[in-house]
Amino acid sequence: MVCSNACILVTGGAGFIGANFIHYVLGLEEFQGRVVNLDALTYAANLGNLQEIAEDPRYHFEKGDIRDAAKINDLNEKYNFDLIVHFAAESHVDRSIEAPKVFLDTNVIGTYQLLEFVRMNPEIHFHHVSTDEVYGSIAEGKFNESSPYLPNSPYAASKAASDHLVRAYHKTYGIKMTMSHSSNNYGPFQSEEKFIPRMIRGCIRKEPLPIYGTGDNIRDWIYVEDHVRALWMILKNGAIGETYGIGGNNEWKNMDLLNHLTLEFAAIVHQDVEEYRALITSVSDRLGHDYRYALDTSKIERDLEFFPEYDFTEGLQKTIIWYKENEENRLCHTS
Ligand SMILES: NC(=O)c1ccc[n+]([C@@H]2O[C@H](COP(=O)([O-])OP(=O)(O)OC[C@H]3O[C@@H](n4cnc5c(N)ncnc54)[C@H](O)[C@@H]3O)[C@@H](O)[C@H]2O)c1
Repeated sequence: MVCSNACILVTGGAGFIGANFIHYVLGLEEFQGRVVNLDALTYAANLGNLQEIAEDPRYHFEKGDIRDAAKINDLNEKYNFDLIVHFAAESHVDRSIEAPKVFLDTNVIGTYQLLEFVRMNPEIHFHHVSTDEVYGSIAEGKFNESSPYLPNSPYAASKAASDHLVRAYHKTYGIKMTMSHSSNNYGPFQSEEKFIPRMIRGCIRKEPLPIYGTGDNIRDWIYVEDHVRALWMILKNGAIGETYGIGGNNEWKNMDLLNHLTLEFAAIVHQDVEEYRALITSVSDRLGHDYRYALDTSKIERDLEFFPEYDFTEGLQKTIIWYKENEENRLCHTS
């Protein structure tokens, strides 16, 4: 599995989780290798996420599309990859409901192109980053790595299709793969259209805090640094051909989460929480909105001894402070 001087191709490293992964890996004392970040720089990307390490000689940015087979071959000639960690995707459920096609293009065809490349270069280990949303909604109990797929949104269906391709390429051609399904991530560098950043920004700007329907939908939340640490453990010690669920064991109804977030935000800015709660506005529900996601994480606990380290309140406080400082810096630079 991954060695300390590996050359890692990270796809989608200018997005939320990919950027956190690159920071994490380059921050590891044990890592002496190189990281190449291939990103098409869609609306979801932000190279500012990588500003601090842009000059690090172990880091290389390459603008390009995962669907561009010639580009990936050229990059391999240049860098000689040992490992691909595949984050690049269209990742926003609401966008997939509005315009599904790009989700098929990037998430399915893009993954297929990478798999074809790995098939021709079988010494490369391919790690596929997926989501718990492929299993659909569960009213009680938890999903695990053997649960049947039942995706409900075009986003989840496109991720499910890519998962199936990864598995099929392993079974049919013997590619070296691992896969992970994570629950909802939160933390620094996330695009402002996702739930937690959007709510924090609403609090900062005192704008409405829109919540779907009654806010009863339940999600499990994991701090992004815990997720990328779990990925590193899989890359180091996971077994080829295996899939691992990564969750926070931290379920929240959306409305309860928003009440908690406003409480933490008010405490940080020394204001009355009611000022922020008054901004909460119910909007009509998302089409096909899954009621609950929940993951059984016993496999990764047992096999790799992975446990999340961040308590939710601590992670949320760090996240609020990060977005507040980021917004202040942004305003500073635009004024
Ligand atoms: N955010 C979550 O809570 C979460 C949870 C579970 C799994 N995931 C999965 O993790 C991965 C990363 O999610 P994220 O939240 O960081 O996404 P993101 O939307 O923040 O970032 C995606 C990145 O991929 C890049 N990209 C998109 N299309 C590309 C293409 N054709 N070629 C090259 N680059 C392209 C974008 O420019 C962007 O930088 C995704 O595969 C997603 O399905 C996310």
